[in-house]
Amino acid sequence: MENIMITGGAGFIASHLGARLLSEGNRVVAVDNFTLGSCEHVQKNLQNPNFMLIEQDASDVDALERIIKAEKIDRIYHLAANSDIQKSAKDPGIDHVNTFETTYAVLEAMRRTGVKKLFFSSTSAVYGEKPDEQLKETTGGLAPISYYGGAKLASEAFISSYSYMNNFEVLIFRFPNVIGPNLTHGVIFDFIRKLKKNPHELEILGDGTQCKPYLYVLDLVEAIDEFSHKERKGVEIFNIGVEDATTVKEIADMVCERMGLTGVEYKFTGGNVGWKGDVPRFQYDLSKIHATGWRPAHSSNSSVKATLDSVNLEEI
Ligand SMILES: NC(=O)c1ccc[n+]([C@@H]2O[C@H](COP(=O)([O-])OP(=O)(O)OC[C@H]3O[C@@H](n4cnc5c(N)ncnc54)[C@H](O)[C@@H]3O)[C@@H](O)[C@H]2O)c1
Repeated sequence: MENIMITGGAGFIASHLGARLLSEGNRVVAVDNFTLGSCEHVQKNLQNPNFMLIEQDASDVDALERIIKAEKIDRIYHLAANSDIQKSAKDPGIDHVNTFETTYAVLEAMRRTGVKKLFFSSTSAVYGEKPDEQLKETTGGLAPISYYGGAKLASEAFISSYSYMNNFEVLIFRFPNVIGPNLTHGVIFDFIRKLKKNPHELEILGDGTQCKPYLYVLDLVEAIDEFSHKERKGVEIFNIGVEDATTVKEIADMVCERMGLTGVEYKFTGGNVGWKGDVPRFQYDLSKIHATGWRPAHSSNSSVKATLDSVNLEEI
């Protein structure tokens, strides 16, 4: 049993991770500034006396240092970040503060307090646009094309240096698209919202062939929990994901089916990307994580289906 801090603890993925860590008897201190997260996500966790939710900006080093000391934190899961990539495309400062500075603050607070164990949620966006390559953890020439990807890669670089200088033990997962219950943003929700407004027509950004792997959130948090408790020295990076992928057009079809709509006219905005900074397709090499024996329970398509099954259409 440990005292665990989760930054971004009221967010989508963190709500599931917190629930899992609580179920194992840990104390969980969730830190969130509620820019994207909400109490609703963690309503169930809040009923557990071992869960504490603190409204706090995670880019404040002194505040994190105070919390770590007061709550005797043993281990940190750093999930706070800006997850609204389209928003930061118009205002890069959002990613500078919420994605990069939060990482610096976590690392510096760890250095000051002596906490050694960290999990970091990175992303496929650090690779940039490499459509013809199987992306390996050792792939070089990383050139992110979104401010979000840039801030995550800068975070990974700072983690590397802090880990070396302070003997931190760090696990980094580079997530693909993650979906599941509690999700509040992304293509599935955009489509549902648009179709609720107009059930006859659906605007689809790009040409609909953008194709990405979707990982089910419960498969992800199980792996985070399991892998973060393994012994390691320095920084270990894994691509995590599924072997198949789902096109935007296939997602549109599944959303229409879930909403019981037929004959919806798709209006493609054209071009092969959804928006500037979006990587329209990528393919992970998953051999490193597969060599450990790990496999997700859901494929990409079944993750989309399970997410749609969990959605309460009335609430969107
Ligand atoms: N969902 C995905 O597809 C995906 C893919 C790759 C990586 N990730 C990463 O996983 C992590 C969790 O993502 P998510 O999908 O659950 O998104 P989310 O937006 O639901 O969670 C992020 C949380 O961080 C909080 N936050 C943002 N800035 C903060 C700050 N300055 N101080 C404190 N809290 C702050 C938000 O309020 C939110 O609750 C993020 O680091 C994200 O970059 C997610």
